[in-house]
Amino acid sequence: MDFVNVMKAKAKTLQKILVLPEGTEPRTIKAARILLDERLAAGVTLLGKVEDIEKTAAKEGVDLGGINLVFPGDGVKKDTYVREYYEMRKHKGMTEEQAKIDMTDPLRWGAMMVHLGDADAMVAGAENTTGDVLRAGLTIIGTSQGVKTASSCFVMAGMDAKWGASGNMVFSDCAVIPDPTAEQLADIAESSAQSCREFLNTEPVAALLSFSTKGSAKHDNVTKVQNAVEILRNKKAGFIFDGELQADAALVPSVTDSKAPGSPVKGRVNILIFPDLGAGNIGYKLVQRLAGAEAFGPFLQGFAKPISDLSRGASVDDIVITCAVTLARAK
Ligand code: ACO
Repeated sequence: MDFVNVMKAKAKTLQKILVLPEGTEPRTIKAARILLDERLAAGVTLLGKVEDIEKTAAKEGVDLGGINLVFPGDGVKKDTYVREYYEMRKHKGMTEEQAKIDMTDPLRWGAMMVHLGDADAMVAGAENTTGDVLRAGLTIIGTSQGVKTASSCFVMAGMDAKWGASGNMVFSDCAVIPDPTAEQLADIAESSAQSCREFLNTEPVAALLSFSTKGSAKHDNVTKVQNAVEILRNKKAGFIFDGELQADAALVPSVTDSKAPGSPVKGRVNILIFPDLGAGNIGYKLVQRLAGAEAFGPFLQGFAKPISDLSRGASVDDIVITCAVTLARAK
């Protein structure tokens, strides 16, 4: 089974509850119907002004039967959500008045549903920017225990079977942290290892990439990657990793032998960790366009509960797939 079908099967088995904050958005409404009809979720909540959701659904010919419609900032949960938000953010100067206003924001309301267990997962980004989706997640859902940094990964699928796990690999970070520190890079590698287990169902083998292999070049950017590797070594991270490595030294066993002899990742890398967002974002798009790989994501990682961002150009099918993958990660 391919990546998408494996994730859909997992979501079907888990039967979790999803919240979609962009509830008046036509592609999102269509995706909600498909998710319920294909039994990928036990329940779906669309957030927004109920008349607007109903009007758009009628225009698009979508039956809203079985889908929960909630106007954020109102209803029986309002006081609980405002209070919780105020308590969480008062150390940052949040007032009760501002908390009431902030809780009318569908992204924050959706994140609060997930935080308090009224939904298991949230997907947004068909209308909102990545930064806005991330900020709602970071300030309300937060990172998982022991993880300081939220980041993202792509599953690159359908490549030649000699690469990664039968042609599938995890690339990270391609969407969140523009210029990670060494500590953040180490966190990105650890979260990616977890994503690799969840998405590819295989033991992670990560290469921390650079334009230098084992000290062949000297630059702050190289030192940063070397320091990240040192951090992972010192904390005895529970997966196989090596760096700093150039991409060919990481991927091609004969080049590993000449540039990084004895590297534990030789011939079996299934995770590529890029030194910054520029390299990661360009890297995944090159592999997608020039090598014809399928790029699934960005999937957010390191959060306490599952949340995903969408591209604003996402199709209905893209939204369904992202929701299924996000639901498949729910505990
Ligand atoms: N992990 C954990 N916490 C974080 C992170 C992170 N990566 N980034 C920010 N935070 C925390 C901050 O410390 C802050 O916490 P606090 O308010 O409790 O003190 C809170 O989250 C909010 O942070 P802000 O200062 O409002 O946000 P910031 O300006 O640092 O921006 C953001 C963070 C939104 C993640 C930013 O880095 C961003 O916009 N990244 C996306 C980059 C992008 O545009 N990518 C394009 C996508 S391309 C594609 O998808 C293929």
